[in-house]
Amino acid sequence: MNVIKRYLFGILLIGLAVLNVQCKKNQTTDKVSIEKSIYGTLPNGQKIESYTLKNQKGMEVTIITYGGIITSLKAPNKEGKSEEIVLGFSSLEQYTKPNPYFGALIGRYGNRIAKGKFSLDGKEYSLAINNQPNALHGGPEGFHRVVWTALENKGGDTAASIKLQYVSKDMEEGYPGNLTVFVTYTLNNNNSLDVLYEATTDKKTIVNLTQHSYFNLSANFTKTILDHEITIDADQLVPVDATLIPTGELTDVTNTPFDFRKPKLVGKEIDAKDEQIKRGLGYDHCWVLNNPNKGERLAASAYEPKSGRLLEVYTDQPGIQLYTGNFLDGTLPMRDKGVYAHRTGFCLETQHYPDSPNQKSFPSTVLSPGEHYKTKTTFKFSVK
Ligand code: GLA
Repeated sequence: MNVIKRYLFGILLIGLAVLNVQCKKNQTTDKVSIEKSIYGTLPNGQKIESYTLKNQKGMEVTIITYGGIITSLKAPNKEGKSEEIVLGFSSLEQYTKPNPYFGALIGRYGNRIAKGKFSLDGKEYSLAINNQPNALHGGPEGFHRVVWTALENKGGDTAASIKLQYVSKDMEEGYPGNLTVFVTYTLNNNNSLDVLYEATTDKKTIVNLTQHSYFNLSANFTKTILDHEITIDADQLVPVDATLIPTGELTDVTNTPFDFRKPKLVGKEIDAKDEQIKRGLGYDHCWVLNNPNKGERLAASAYEPKSGRLLEVYTDQPGIQLYTGNFLDGTLPMRDKGVYAHRTGFCLETQHYPDSPNQKSFPSTVLSPGEHYKTKTTFKFSVK
């Protein structure tokens, strides 16, 4: 009897030891890890998850299933100190209140559509006017305010990723077709964050997805971003009218405040006496990126000399919107204390040109059944 007991006890011990080794292995094998937790609960009881991706080079990104929002992004400065560099809030409740799309996924159509109207095959569609007199960023209940489903999340030796899905119903926010959207965020061990957007539809529709993170590479949100050096690989701009709708032409940036072909301080000409600058209240424009047929290429960069942080944005998209936080007005709370003041963050939103559905000469944003919308943007962080 005793022999059997001892035998069973022995087996139990071996089992526990194997389990222990296995657990440890799981904890340590992933060089780029991902950790899931519950971020908060919506008033309707729905739980919002958060996923934190972390690599071994000091980068950490947190994404929540509400709006696919990047709530936190930490990257090292030139001393190797990892710090928060995106504007964000401290609670889910704050993200559900009106805010200028902090960190969010934008869709079904990023940027503006004139008077909220567009036509497909002779049929006119009307969208909500949420940015007088136009429609902006997919509507009041756009992709930035819906709950995404986290389909897969995995860590690994070189990268960790989280794949989000959202199914936007036919006529949701006024857009035709059931649109199935996937956005995969991948953090690599070389300090780049890839955002892969995919979509399919069952009816002809329009799609223009983007990411609306506000960066301040100094990690000091009480400072403006005017001392950041920006580069944009674009010879042309998409000029806008007084309501920020493209006039239809594409203009040369030479000898204008919009020439960022060589690194230039954001603050240098942000208040220049220039009609386009006046209309945007600073920079709030889309640039026509060079090399449109090259696939993913370096489109823009931002450098903050004091911290040494450099952000490079790669994309396969035809345009990029630089928005310099001109509407930030000291009313939104920071994570701990303080408020986000005028121009304390900038966005580099890769996208098709605004109002493309109404501009015949712009690259098309129409997606038809059987087609696969697939586009990638990479935010790469380093120091110099
Ligand atoms: C976009 C627009 C801006 C502004 C911000 C949010 O970047 O182009 O005009 O609406 O979003 O405030």
